[in-house]
Amino acid sequence: MRAVLSHWRARAERIALVPTMGNLHAGHLALIEAARRRSNRVVASIFVNPTQFGPGEDFDSYPRTIDSDLDKLAAAGCDLVWLPSVQTMYPLEEGFSVIAPAALASQLCGEFRPGHFDGVANVVLRLFNQVRPGLAVFGEKDFQQLLVIRRLVTDLALDIEIVGLPTRREDDGLAMSSRNQYLDADQRAAAPALYRTLTDLARQLSAGEDWAGVRDSAWQALEAAGLKPQYLAWKSAEDLGEPVPGKPQRLLAAAWLGQARLIDNIALG
Ligand code: PAF
Repeated sequence: MRAVLSHWRARAERIALVPTMGNLHAGHLALIEAARRRSNRVVASIFVNPTQFGPGEDFDSYPRTIDSDLDKLAAAGCDLVWLPSVQTMYPLEEGFSVIAPAALASQLCGEFRPGHFDGVANVVLRLFNQVRPGLAVFGEKDFQQLLVIRRLVTDLALDIEIVGLPTRREDDGLAMSSRNQYLDADQRAAAPALYRTLTDLARQLSAGEDWAGVRDSAWQALEAAGLKPQYLAWKSAEDLGEPVPGKPQRLLAAAWLGQARLIDNIALG
């Protein structure tokens, strides 16, 4: 990979990286397309990163579909696919690691998945060092992850442009995710309640309704649809602190539905 990248760099080609864990869907392919529009060469990585899964999470069962992923990447015009082994990503038994800032990474998903964003930051930093891209593209579906990565890049002074792309959705509003395939038919029919609840909340907040009240009814609406909410939050879109009037804001949610932990978020205003 280094030889190919050196060759491209010698020709002053702009290299984009799209990090993934594979099991690619239309959302991932939109990231590849966005990377293509902004660069001369697109590298996609596929690596199911063990350090971002907690004990009892779905690391072993996470869908691995490498052959169809490679076909999709080739059809999408990706120039190179990086498929590192665990040994390549983490060569030392006791290696270096970065820790994501607690204010950003220990709330929301971080509260329920302790250490998850440290694992993400570590693997993304390693991928950045291996590929040394000029830009990298991530989806807004993992909004907290996107902010952690933006902070990683500014804090460690990495010269990489981070591009965040809007969430791709199914026709009924469900955010595309590899984990949607854990849903059976009834659960799949119930799943759009998460997005519907967020859009209802956004409408109610924009109409000036009180957060505590609308949050409680939204929580009940999720439960009535068969979901088990973990959090429903209204945050600053810049640092996940308290929302500031006149500044970008975000509504974020996570809920269990059967074996699937669904997350979603939308911009407010
Ligand atoms: O969003 C993902 O698929 C993963 O968290 C990432 C960014 C590829 C790191 O493993």
